[in-house]
Amino acid sequence: SRKHKVAVIGSGNWGTTIAKVIAENTKEHGDIFEPEVHMWVFEEEYSIPKDSKHASSELASGKQKLTHLINSLHENFKYLPGIALPHNVVATPDIAEAAKGATILIFNLPHQFIARACQNLQGKIVPYARGISCIKGVEVSDEGCELFSDSIGQKLGIYCGALSGANIANEIALEKFSETTVAYDPPAMDSQNPTPQGSPKSSSTDLPKLVFEDKPAPTKQKSHIQPLPSEFPPLHHKNMKKLFHRPYFHVRMVSDVAGVSLGGALKNIVALAAGFVDGLGWGDNAKAAVMRVGIMESVRFGKTFFADSVRTETFTEESCGVADLITSCSGGRNFRCAKMSVQEGKPIAEIEERELNGQKLQGTSTAYEVHSFLVKQGMERDFPLFTAVWSILEDKNRPEDIPHLLEPATAEK
Ligand code: NAD
Ligand code: 13P
Repeated sequence: SRKHKVAVIGSGNWGTTIAKVIAENTKEHGDIFEPEVHMWVFEEEYSIPKDSKHASSELASGKQKLTHLINSLHENFKYLPGIALPHNVVATPDIAEAAKGATILIFNLPHQFIARACQNLQGKIVPYARGISCIKGVEVSDEGCELFSDSIGQKLGIYCGALSGANIANEIALEKFSETTVAYDPPAMDSQNPTPQGSPKSSSTDLPKLVFEDKPAPTKQKSHIQPLPSEFPPLHHKNMKKLFHRPYFHVRMVSDVAGVSLGGALKNIVALAAGFVDGLGWGDNAKAAVMRVGIMESVRFGKTFFADSVRTETFTEESCGVADLITSCSGGRNFRCAKMSVQEGKPIAEIEERELNGQKLQGTSTAYEVHSFLVKQGMERDFPLFTAVWSILEDKNRPEDIPHLLEPATAEK
């Protein structure tokens, strides 16, 4: 039987980390996956820093192509410095080449770059490939608000699930324990590929009282999907889990693709609000208050606009929900940059440029995208925290106004 070839589309801080996780697993589960993992790198030139353990390498004299550095020294010096990558991660500058022959495509890019990446992949991928989107963001257009899992699926004619969790990349790269949620609900026509139904009792840390029925979520993706040929190992929850689960990275499989995708996208707006109040020196109670309203608005957003599929439990019980909100509001980039922007009285874009060495904030653009969608729906007043973050980014309000702007939400019950 044939084995699954896996490609990672993206090579930033999280993209490189997930390539490491996957490459460890493809090596370990050679009965299901081909060991080599191609990682698409948006090519650029980079110099090995003087404090790197590779500073004495002959490649350290001047700028080199990032792909050459990764393939020669097995480190992504720019986006994941100091972390040794497995040698079966192969950096590839040509996106079509990276995806060639892959039956599993992992999308892991800042959300502003995904449309172009999909354009470049159209007609060049295996037609029965399956995707997983690790992207935290939503795609807002004239037609409405779309999940990246859905829009990738539509653009490429494949089925695409989602991975999201309380996952600060650097911690996972250092193999510090964390959990994640993978939403995967493949088409029923893959008859040799049944998705196990029932509770996702997948992690040793499950508590009985948290077990719930995981009903499959209807998605609009399934009509155009080609069945996976029977010579491949089936891609049900058990095998998908093997691609991501590590002793330090525990995976829970669910079917609520919309809930998983939205949790990760919307918490980035909340993390900006947490950074704003922390930057004012207002303390943990203020931060907890914006987090409470933030999770409430995230659930409301899901239940209002993705009513047929989102489950509240995805937000309250899975890593991709409240746990991601907590970690992101503690040490995420959106939180840290928003806090510095208030402390220094500078625009957040300037802090992003100065602090992140090319990494991209997702919360600022998501705040604008969600706001423009809410305005079209005439519902911005129903989401006072999301609206307040937009208004502060636009300089129409100050972070000090947050309590007042949340008044309808906090006084509600
Ligand atoms: P990042 O913030 O490190 O961004 C850098 C990446 O963007 C690099 O791969 C760079 O090559 C690429 N890039 C820059 N300009 C580009 C262009 N014009 N076209 C295409 N690519 C370009 O990226 P990341 O941290 O890997 O984030 C990817 C996604 O994962 C985001 O949606 C993010 O929210 C999510 N995420 C990140 C983390 C984290 O801790 N970093 C954790 C979980 C989820
Ligand atoms: P930031 O992009 O704000 O760093 O958040 C990372 C993340 O998504 C943690 O789960």
